[in-house]
Amino acid sequence: MHSIIGLFGLLGGLSLCSAAPAQNITSDVYFYGDSPAVYPSPEGTGTGSWATAYEKAKALVAQLTDEEKVNLTAGVSSTTGCSGVIAAIPRVNFPGLCVSDASNGLRGTDYVNGWSSGIHVGASWNRTLAHQRAVYMGQEFHRKGVNLLLGPVVGPLGRVAEGGRNWEGFSNDPYLTGALVYETVQGVQSSGVGVSTKHYIGNEQETNRNPGVEDGVEIASVSSNIDDQTIHELYLWPFQDAVRAGSVAIMCSYERINNSYACQNSKTLNGLLKTELGFQGYVITDWGAQHGGIASANAGLDMVMPESTLWGANLTTAIANGTMEASRLDDMVTRILATWYQLNQDTDFPAPGVGMPASAYSEHQAVIGTSSDEKGTLLDSAIEGHVLVKNTNNALPLQPSRLVSVFGYDAKIPDAFDLTFTFLSSSPPIQNSTLYVGGGSGANSPAYVIAPLNAIQQQAYQDSTAVLWDVSSQDPDVDPTSEACLVFINSFATEGSDRPGLTDEYSDTLVTNVAGKCNNTIVVVHNAGIRLVSDWIDHANVTAVILAHLPGQDTGHALVDILYGRANPSGRLPYTIAKQASDYGTLLHPSEPQTPYGLFPQSDYTEGVYIDYRAFDKQSITPQFEFGFGLSYTTFDYSGLNIQKSNGTTSEYPPSATIQEGGNPHLWDEIVTVTAEVQNSGSVDGAEVAQLYVGIPNGPIRQLRGFEKVLIASGQTVQVSFSLNRRDLSTWSVEAQQWQLQSGTYQVYVGRSSRDLPLTGEFTL
Ligand code: NOJ
Repeated sequence: MHSIIGLFGLLGGLSLCSAAPAQNITSDVYFYGDSPAVYPSPEGTGTGSWATAYEKAKALVAQLTDEEKVNLTAGVSSTTGCSGVIAAIPRVNFPGLCVSDASNGLRGTDYVNGWSSGIHVGASWNRTLAHQRAVYMGQEFHRKGVNLLLGPVVGPLGRVAEGGRNWEGFSNDPYLTGALVYETVQGVQSSGVGVSTKHYIGNEQETNRNPGVEDGVEIASVSSNIDDQTIHELYLWPFQDAVRAGSVAIMCSYERINNSYACQNSKTLNGLLKTELGFQGYVITDWGAQHGGIASANAGLDMVMPESTLWGANLTTAIANGTMEASRLDDMVTRILATWYQLNQDTDFPAPGVGMPASAYSEHQAVIGTSSDEKGTLLDSAIEGHVLVKNTNNALPLQPSRLVSVFGYDAKIPDAFDLTFTFLSSSPPIQNSTLYVGGGSGANSPAYVIAPLNAIQQQAYQDSTAVLWDVSSQDPDVDPTSEACLVFINSFATEGSDRPGLTDEYSDTLVTNVAGKCNNTIVVVHNAGIRLVSDWIDHANVTAVILAHLPGQDTGHALVDILYGRANPSGRLPYTIAKQASDYGTLLHPSEPQTPYGLFPQSDYTEGVYIDYRAFDKQSITPQFEFGFGLSYTTFDYSGLNIQKSNGTTSEYPPSATIQEGGNPHLWDEIVTVTAEVQNSGSVDGAEVAQLYVGIPNGPIRQLRGFEKVLIASGQTVQVSFSLNRRDLSTWSVEAQQWQLQSGTYQVYVGRSSRDLPLTGEFTL
């Protein structure tokens, strides 16, 4: 394996994203020849809900000197713990901005909650809960004086099975990710805090994400070479939903796209984002991701973090000598200030960074970010991302008042904990404590962590269960009267590197050791990404398995509620679990530099849209557990499929569509509605995730195009309804440069998962 120490490859506590010397490695080679330059950079127009904010921003910009304008476009070093800071302009009462990580809780400070991670939200398939989680999380950032939350993540989407940051995003399906990012953006921003949906675009691996030096030779970031149809149908899709939801910022990524750095790629920034999607906010760099000076400004970049050695006074020089238009600088600054007004941060916001201590043990004021009204949502969001994938012999739920034995390093809390806790260890048995979040800038330090073993003890206290435990041995002794043996393992992932594999021998041996001695072995895996289970899933003594993902600080309580049946599992896999790693084919590992592109690593997305279940379906590979799969303590029956074309459905676009945030507004025209009945045919209440898949003519066999999570009382039947819009039913046409409905027969499937689809039908367009 190639070993490259990237400029950002060595991570350390809160300095994770410290600035690096700017690199000037660029290449103008377009691998696919389909990334034409797009200039000039479109000015924000203040469409839709942005009109007033733009008016106010323009009035303020008119009062600024050139130097003040330039200062708004790049971060400065600060005495607070904000990940990035824009300096104040006291002369016009602008207090500056504090921007901070991340998608599942505020990092680097105290008195905040550790929320469920993106993958957990993806596994819960619950729009309402995703929204509520985001509202509360946003409120915490607000109390702490953070103007911009650095998240949510929809890139990586999850192309590479071993991707180190897949857990920060929701799912490797663009529809599911798009639906959940939409709610997240709206939820956070309703609290007056902005989001910077990231990492735009093609940030699908950590390996070679940054330029590096090997044997004294500079090596560029990996280039994600993506064709026009694939970028639209997979990778741009959730960003489109984020923009439609009003995301005030978009963070450009470290990678190159078709050989041009993401933060100076005029096709993706000026073209796709600002022209096609009508984006009104500003583009902010990932930390140190600026590699070109005026080129990046002209390509559509608006703000550089954490500082810029390339912009500053050079911007005004460039304007003076005609390399850059003055209107570009005005547009950059207008976009930045418009977001401040759009979120009402001019009238209702604490001092930027007020709750962000410079370091863990420095003197600082106690600024309470949490609030007791969040508790219910915090716990629900921790519960719903648990996916029960095996449950035999009525193993679950457990009966109170019996003996349970607890094994495995993942059952216990970490030995030490402070504000710099970011889970940076990575060798098995991984963290050697319970994994409730992945590592890197997405990790935070919650107010508390209830580990599974603590919550099981509390259960014992309440109902006279007896508990024995050994959470250090790989081959523990087992009391033969145990009602159940609970084994806790995890599968770690972190920013900065891709995962070494989808299993680890230590953990698999621990499971089989316990299963060898206990005929009711229940395995709980806290997994920061896909985790294979084939070594023990068919073991007769492994009676139940829960993929518990990354639940956040309420992890133990959430799990015990499920184990004892107070909560009925309702999570579904937001990715595919293969029987063997090789089933992921070329998408198992990240791309590595190869001759003749050693200095310019390439990652060719030749698979097109065929990632995860689209690929398994196409290649007829039977997965261990398919996308969308998950068990409940009850059962659900499906009937009554109905497919209705909307009146006036036409494959031609209605005329005169002015681009709005999110693109052509006719993409959201409803074309078809599908309804079905779902009955809870079991004896306990439970929530089902009814899923709709569509086979678009000339497209993959089926793609998720609708889901509805419904709580159904035992014996009751409810109707679920799915609205299919123009984008849902279209294919991106490279020739026409727009989404086009296909003439022909569409297949419709409704059911419990991508492979368990009892209702089928079709319609023709
Ligand atoms: C680098 C990470 O890629 C990004 O996600 C994060 O927001 C910044 N560092 C700031 O910490």
